[in-house]
This record gives sequence, C-alpha cells and structure tokens, in this order.
Amino acid sequence: MRYTNAFNVEVDFISKFLYGTGMLLFLITFSLTCYYAYQIFHFGHKAETAANEAPRYHFVLVPEELDNDYWRLVENGAKKAAKDLNVVLEYIGPIQANTEEHIKTLEMSAASRVDGILTQGLQEEQFTPLINQIVEKGIPVITVDTDAATSKRLSYVGTDNYYSGFIAGQALIEDTGGKANVAIITGNFYASHQQLRVQGFKDATQHAKGINIITIEESNITRARAAEAANKILKEHPEVTAFYGTSALDGIGIAQVVEHYQKQDQIYILAFDTIEDTIHYMKKGTIDVSVMQEPYKMGYRAVQMMIDLIEGRSVPNTVHTETRIIRASDLPLDSKSIIRMDPS
Ligand code: BGC
Repeated sequence: MRYTNAFNVEVDFISKFLYGTGMLLFLITFSLTCYYAYQIFHFGHKAETAANEAPRYHFVLVPEELDNDYWRLVENGAKKAAKDLNVVLEYIGPIQANTEEHIKTLEMSAASRVDGILTQGLQEEQFTPLINQIVEKGIPVITVDTDAATSKRLSYVGTDNYYSGFIAGQALIEDTGGKANVAIITGNFYASHQQLRVQGFKDATQHAKGINIITIEESNITRARAAEAANKILKEHPEVTAFYGTSALDGIGIAQVVEHYQKQDQIYILAFDTIEDTIHYMKKGTIDVSVMQEPYKMGYRAVQMMIDLIEGRSVPNTVHTETRIIRASDLPLDSKSIIRMDPS
C-alpha cells in the first residue's frame, strides 16, 4: 500500500526496508535449512557406513561337547573365519556330552533366529526331524564332523567317517601282519559317525583271517570311561592284543591303562585324532597309530560355506576334509603344526 501524504518518501523507504529484511530472513532460514539438511544427510551416511562395518551375520556352532580338545580346534577354525569374514560366531552347547542339552541348544538358537547353525547330525531319529524343522523355518543348517545325510541340512563339512574307519582297519592289518585280537572302544553306540567308523573298520578287516574282533564297549566320549572300559576288557579278555578307539579321547584312556599294566610292548593301540595328549602318547610309543582328521579346517570352511549359502553362492552338498593315518614316525618335530592345521 502506498500513502500519498507528506511522508510519502519515508513510507516508501519503510516498506522497502521491511521487504529487504524479509528477504534477508528468508535467505538466512533457507541457508540454515540447507546446512542442517546436509548435516543430517552426512551424519546419516556416516551411520550407514558404521552399520556396514558391524558384523554381517550371527552364527552358532553347537558341538556335542564344548570342553573337548577336539572341538576346541573346530571352534578355533570357526572363530578365525568369523574374524576374517566379519561375522559373530557363538560356540555353545553341553559342557560334557549330553544329547538332550545338545538338542535344547539347537532349539534355543533357532528360536532366537540366528542367521545360521553349524552342528553335528549325531543321530537320525532325534536330529533329522529337528534339523528339518529349523531349515523349514528359514534358518540354514550345515552339519560339521557328523552328517545327517537324510535331513534337509544344506551341506556337510567333515571327515568321511566310513572311509576313516576303513583306513584304520587297513593300518591295523598292515602293522600287525594281519594277526590281532581287537577290542573296540567307541564314543557311543548311537552316534552315526561312531557307527560308521566301526563299520568301515569291520569291512576293511573282514577278510583278514587272523583279525578277530573280540568285544566293543562305549566310552561316552570321555577319557575316564574309555580307561574304565579298557581296564575291564584287559581283565575279561586277556587274549586282546590290540585296541581301536574311535573318538578323540578313547585312545588316551586306553593308553593310560596299558601303561598302568606296562603292556606297551604287547598291545597295539590305534587311536583317533591328533590332539596334544594323543601326540604325547604317540611320541612315547604307547599309541602306535592315529587317524588324523582336520577339525580346524572343518570349522573354518563351515563358516565360509554358511556365508556363501546365505549370499546365494553355490555350495557343494558334501565337503570331505582330509583324513589319513599318522604314525609316530610321521610326526613333525613341531607337532603343534599337525594339531592346528591352519588352512591359510
Ligand atoms: C569326533 C567328534 C567327537 C570327539 C569326541 C572325535 O573323533 O570326530 O565327533 O565329539 O571325537 O572326543
């Protein structure tokens, strides 16, 4: 509005002044808005980058026994892969072998919707339906060390357990000249990998006329129970000349008893795995031979394979890690290298 009075000039000046101030305020507000918008975008972008650096996935590794030197090697391999590939890996399960607790841990992991589960397929009847349920819920499962071949698990990484038993039988024939009365101590009668290791051994030795399998006992995968069983066998079957232990602590329990009776020279011991105590008894000559597995590699590969699966890359149905016979003379001077088996 324009006044046509004597103050015409001043009124015109005032309205220009107000207009100019308004423009200035608008420009300041606009610039501030732009500045804060930039800040928010920039901050948001930074937050996104940080999120990218956060662990990509959360996996669990559930073994049959947490506090077991063999499984600690699997754990070490899996944890190394988790670190290299930026995922969280939890190692959870029964402290000492206990199927119920093992199953509960799997159920809880599935309920908490982890991104992937690595575990053993110990026993058809209990593990296969559970693995199927978990996979149907959308959580991938990879079996490690022991397969549940008829389940819907997405892949298996570990020893060919039948083959490992078969080469154990061949080694026994070779080392004893085909003459031995054998006692078997096995982790347990129900687990499929233990059954396969026994079956492979029986098949390899079935045509060797001088090889007799005298008895078979369970150790519940503990060294103490393996020692108890070995003691009982030596008392009840003095004709026994060889022992075959099919899980990691069996050979160690047997070795303790054989040393106790000072029968190292009369009794041949065929063990499983190359954990520190086994190597100790091999170096002393009490354990003659062991079947080597690659637990560290199993753990490492299992994590790699789980990431591949989740990200849509193809993964073989079965990955057999190496298994072979190790004699004391094969041991490297630094036996730690055989224990760790770092694949890198
Ligand atoms: C087997 C594992 C088992 C461990 C027990 C190993 O030979 O591969 O499945 O849990 O022995 O000590």
